[in-house]
Amino acid sequence: MPVKMAPSILAADFTRLGDEVRAMTSAGADSIHIDVMDGHFVPNLTIGPGVIKALRGCSDLPFDTHLMIAPVERHLDAFVEAGSNIISVHPESGAHLHRSLARIREAGCRAGVVLNPGTPLSSIESVITDVDVILVMTVNPGFGGQAFLHSQLEKIEACRKRIDAAGLEIDLQVDGGINRETAPLAVAAGANVLVAGTAAFAGGPEMYADNLAALRGEASGA
Ligand code: DX5
Ligand code: ZN
Repeated sequence: MPVKMAPSILAADFTRLGDEVRAMTSAGADSIHIDVMDGHFVPNLTIGPGVIKALRGCSDLPFDTHLMIAPVERHLDAFVEAGSNIISVHPESGAHLHRSLARIREAGCRAGVVLNPGTPLSSIESVITDVDVILVMTVNPGFGGQAFLHSQLEKIEACRKRIDAAGLEIDLQVDGGINRETAPLAVAAGANVLVAGTAAFAGGPEMYADNLAALRGEASGA
């Protein structure tokens, strides 16, 4: 299965965000991962729909919006209208997970569900046929640059088995602490989409294509 790369703009140069998205697009990214944090569900504040809308003209790639906000329901439409193509939500971020996932699909986006390190796969069993993406967090959400939690590899494996056994067409994403050492572990466990902030944006625009290739496991020195 080809490994897709979703660079997280949380690690981009915010003074030149549009150029950063254009550079990652030219470098061969498969989607643009956008981390939305509210200072309540997670202890950090980032960007909202206005910034996503402004960036929409900078890339034709799918915008993969990771919502770390609560309650999430009341903001879903704003992130659809801003130009998101994938919207992922945490089960803990709203009272009605099924309703949120259905709303995202109804609006024409792909629906994702996110598992925090402390959240088991069993918690999404009842909605597994309602999602297009399962995102396994390998850090506690809130900040870029944290260390990969190896304890989550077992969950990634279990997700891959569950998806394949049921013949579901679900992307299995991994997010947090992905670098040249940990990317192969996530892929070996069954991930097919890697979110990377720090490791994708390291070294500036001239390094982006190399960074993405290395994280996919394509570069000779990877
Ligand atoms: C964490 C975010 C991640 C983060 C990844 O809450 O969801 O997407 O930006 O950053 P790195 O790759 O630096 O861990
Ligand atoms: Zn994220």
